[in-house]
Amino acid sequence: TVYPNQDVASIHVANRIASIIREKQAKGETAVLGLATGATPIKVYKELVRLHKEEGLSFKNVVTFNLDEYYPMQPTSPQSYVTFMNKNLFDHVDIPRENINIPDGTLSEDKVQAFCEAYEQKISDFGGIDIQILGIGRTGHIGFNEPGSAPNSGTRLVTLDDLTRRDASHDFGGKENVPTKAITMGVGTIFKAREIILMAWNEKKAEIIKKAVEGEISSEIPATYLQLSDNVEFVLDQGAASLL
Ligand code: GLP
Repeated sequence: TVYPNQDVASIHVANRIASIIREKQAKGETAVLGLATGATPIKVYKELVRLHKEEGLSFKNVVTFNLDEYYPMQPTSPQSYVTFMNKNLFDHVDIPRENINIPDGTLSEDKVQAFCEAYEQKISDFGGIDIQILGIGRTGHIGFNEPGSAPNSGTRLVTLDDLTRRDASHDFGGKENVPTKAITMGVGTIFKAREIILMAWNEKKAEIIKKAVEGEISSEIPATYLQLSDNVEFVLDQGAASLL
């Protein structure tokens, strides 16, 4: 779906999330959200906060699983995805803290695999993700599933692509400060979500969006795997859709 601009598109995505939360609430059930970081979803979170403050949308029955976190990473660091999520969403809504799940960047390397398996298990225990939102990196990554990721990959420790580290260098004050690794949900984890929305804004994403939507399905561009799913919507602004 192509929207005139990212503001209108973000409101559409926020409304979809809000309607899932409300439907689940009406049935006394938990809504399980798969959340993303980066600049792309910021306006979605802003609209969800507005819906909470002005229209009574409650997050008391919401459980969240974030896609990824840098590794190593302290949650209190300004660049952590924990800090990002608190600042953009969690600090402004009534979600119980124990309902928030974000990969743990503080673990020693020998503990990471067990953590990743437990993360997958916890998602299943909550009945799976109702809606997963995604951005896209210029390497074609979703979450931090860089080129080479397998379609059935699970949550795991990955090495970041050089382009991804360059794109993050602004946040870290230089590429040399960007962690070389991350913990990410796998492509297989993302695929299990009942609904997936990938968002992209601006011309700078146009080239990778063209490859993701129209290109050959290949592990070289993990976002192309989304062509295999019937539950995916690409939500774009005019700029990101300009080469389609
Ligand atoms: C990071 C995140 C991805 C995100 C991507 C794009 O690498 N791990 O989940 O999609 O950046 O970022 P942005 O939305 O800032 O363009």
